[in-house]
Amino acid sequence: MKDQLNALANQWNQSLKDLFDHDPERGSRFVTTGAGLRLDYSKHWIDQAVLEALSEILANCHFAAMRDQLFDGEKVNVTEDRSVLHVALRAQMNDTFRVNGVSIVSDVLQARDQAYAFANQIRDGSLLGATGKKFTDVVNIGIGGSDLGPLMVSEALKPLIDGPRPHYVSNADGAHLHDTIAALDPEATLFLIASKTFTTQETMHNASKAQQWISDVLGHRAIASHFVALSTNTEAARAFGVSEERMFGFWDWVGGRYSVWSTIGLSLMIALGPGVFDRFLNGAREMDLHFRESSLLSNIPVIMALLGVWYRNGFGLQTQAVLPYEQRLHRFPAYLQQMEMESNGKRIDRDGQSVAYDTCPVIWGEPGTNGQHAFFQLLHQGTLVCPIDFILSANPTNTDSESHVLLNANCLAQSESLAFGKSHEEVYQEMVDQGISASQAKQLAPHRSFPGNRPSSTIMMTQLTPETLGALIAAYEHKVFTQGVLWNINSFDQWGVELGKVQCKALRASFDSGHASNFSSSTREGVRWLRKNMH
Ligand code: F6P
Repeated sequence: MKDQLNALANQWNQSLKDLFDHDPERGSRFVTTGAGLRLDYSKHWIDQAVLEALSEILANCHFAAMRDQLFDGEKVNVTEDRSVLHVALRAQMNDTFRVNGVSIVSDVLQARDQAYAFANQIRDGSLLGATGKKFTDVVNIGIGGSDLGPLMVSEALKPLIDGPRPHYVSNADGAHLHDTIAALDPEATLFLIASKTFTTQETMHNASKAQQWISDVLGHRAIASHFVALSTNTEAARAFGVSEERMFGFWDWVGGRYSVWSTIGLSLMIALGPGVFDRFLNGAREMDLHFRESSLLSNIPVIMALLGVWYRNGFGLQTQAVLPYEQRLHRFPAYLQQMEMESNGKRIDRDGQSVAYDTCPVIWGEPGTNGQHAFFQLLHQGTLVCPIDFILSANPTNTDSESHVLLNANCLAQSESLAFGKSHEEVYQEMVDQGISASQAKQLAPHRSFPGNRPSSTIMMTQLTPETLGALIAAYEHKVFTQGVLWNINSFDQWGVELGKVQCKALRASFDSGHASNFSSSTREGVRWLRKNMH
């Protein structure tokens, strides 16, 4: 793959300006649609021949068979010997998903119904706090996939929240819990302890602090009414003190970063209501169908994946920006950081060999237009080229359309300027026409010109709705899977997070004992300094 991509990239010598000049239809030729999304990928370093070559590389990686294996519940997570079936969480009654040959659809629907019933009881007040108060606030305590997804979706769909207010606490920093509960009434606060494993240190620590808060104010017996567990580890949840009817489970075939569709989404079901959550699932399911059924070159996730690999392996580009022109998607880049970098940030292939090529780029981003006044200088005139995903919608959700048009004009202005730039000659002439002296214009022109040829995709939707949001997330999920196929890596484990966890346990003890002799002199001195300066 690497050699093929390098060879292709070495032959590539067309600028975006040339491509558009030579093909007046390019802006409609390189566009595909599906599940309510429109992907414009015309502003990329591709032509039909490159796309066909890229799709051939993918086909040669047995992509079609591997996609079937994923949906058929085969154990594609080879290092953990597990199926990967977050797609089954979007299932409807007549869909078929199996694990070990056994249908899981009725289990999925039953778990969903139970969570919905509970959400409705919290929403309508038939389940109350220990002192008889209706819950007004729900605090989800979790981290990584047990936080980023629900948090991102609750921000994205904020105008649709009509139930108790959702809050999210993730960080081990006590300030996070402290500041979140500071304004809350313990009698009206429900805590959801969201942890697939129910062993994650930060989550368990924050959960016991929250327990302490409830117990201090309302008494120990109140804990039963104020705590819920979202986990696959029912035993640990029980040991924590959560009763059976307050446990909402899921399965080991749901990866943490793919779990927002499961009961990990309970905070959303409560805040938005089951009806909205269903719409969110349906949008993702539409994208699943699009991903399974569309040909490679009209397939949104496949095209996104091919472009990513083209830049990463053909041209050695190291980062990928995701810039939503949609304030409510402000946590989307952070969500994608986990989804992409935890999934494909790997250097060992599925056969246990070191890869001889680069894998996942650094994913980063901020909502527009804020980013324009921060880092866009580098995107336009810096030395590195960073492909961008712009995301925007035709209509606002509950703001005025005048602001939204301004927002969208900004978005298109950026992709246009990045692609086509402004030449030295144009800049020079413009200054001279404005009356600036020729010598000054000559001096300033290099600083004021834009090289252009900076690639971007533009993902459009009519509006950010539960459906389009579901489809958008699912598109990225399938992009990540497709890139894992191209890189021949297992996108579904995350052993890379383990070492730090183990070291932290040992270091935590060093803070008590003062002994850190097993660590480097830097870390040892760090512990010593911190201990000495602790109040
Ligand atoms: O440490 C990484 C990780 O395992 C993520 O993959 C996961 O989303 C997060 O921790 C939280 O895990 P859990 O849901 O088990 O608490």
